Amino acid sequence: MPELVIGSERHKELFCREFIDTHLPYDVAALRWPVLDEASLARLCALPFWQEAVSTESATAAKVQAQARLERDALMHEAVALQGYEEERHSQLLQSLLTHYDIGVSLPPSPPLPTDIEWAFLRTEYGECFDSFFAFGLFAIAKDSGFFPAELVTRFEPIMQEEARHILFFVNWLAYRRAQLPWWQRPALAGRCLLGMTLQVWSRIQTARGVGDGDFTLKGHESIDTDLSPRDFLHLCLQENERRLKRYDPYLLRPQLVPTLAKAVCRVLPKRRGVD
Ligand SMILES: [Fe+2]
Ligand SMILES: [Fe+2]
Repeated sequence: MPELVIGSERHKELFCREFIDTHLPYDVAALRWPVLDEASLARLCALPFWQEAVSTESATAAKVQAQARLERDALMHEAVALQGYEEERHSQLLQSLLTHYDIGVSLPPSPPLPTDIEWAFLRTEYGECFDSFFAFGLFAIAKDSGFFPAELVTRFEPIMQEEARHILFFVNWLAYRRAQLPWWQRPALAGRCLLGMTLQVWSRIQTARGVGDGDFTLKGHESIDTDLSPRDFLHLCLQENERRLKRYDPYLLRPQLVPTLAKAVCRVLPKRRGVD
C-alpha cells in the first residue's frame, strides 16, 4: 500500500471504515450476569466509583452524539454517531449490572450539553486517552488477580476494547481535522489541544491525590493480591495498550501522548532489585 497521507480522503475512509467495521454488535438486555458468591458481591458493592462511572459514560455519550450532529461528512457522521451509541451502551451495561446485583446508586440529572460542542468533544476524548491507558492495566490486574470471578470480568472486555477503538479513532480524527483546516486556523486548534491535555493531566493528578488520601486504596491493597510497583504497573499499561491497539490497521496513527509520558515516568521511577 502506498504511503498514507494523513488528512487525505483515503486516511478519512480508512479510520472511519476501520472503526465501523470493528464495531461489535451486542444487546445489553440480552446479557446474562453470573451468580456471585457473597464475598464477590460484597466487593462489587463496595467499589466507590459506580455513580461516577455511569454518569461519565452517559455524559460522554451525549457529547459524542452532539459532535456527530456537527459532522457534515456522511462517513464521519456515521463513525462518530456509532461511537456515541457505544458510549450509551457502556452506560446501559453498567446500569444493568447495578440493577441486577441490586447496587443502589443515585444518579444526578444529566448536565446540560455545553454550548461549545467541539471543545467538549476534545476534552472528553483527551480524558478517554488518559483513562483508557490506565484502565487497560487495571483491567489486566483485575483479570489475573481473581478479585472478581472471571465470568464477571469478561463481561467488561468489550468495553475495554471499545475504549481502545475510541482513542484510536480520536487521534486519527484530530490529525485529519487539523490537516483539513486552513493554516491560519491550526494554531487555535493546537491551543485547544494543549489546553485539553493540560487540564486532563491536572485533573488526573487531582484524582490520584484523592485516591491516595482515601479509603479505596486501602481497601484495594487489602483485597487485590498484587506486588506490582508503580513502575511495573506503568509497564503493564504500556503492554496492554500496545496489545489492544496492534490489531488495527497499521497505517493508522496510534495515541502517542500518554504512552510517551508513561515511558518518561518509568525512566525516573526506582527499579526494584533484580528487575530490569
Ligand atoms: Fe465509554
Ligand atoms: Fe469511549
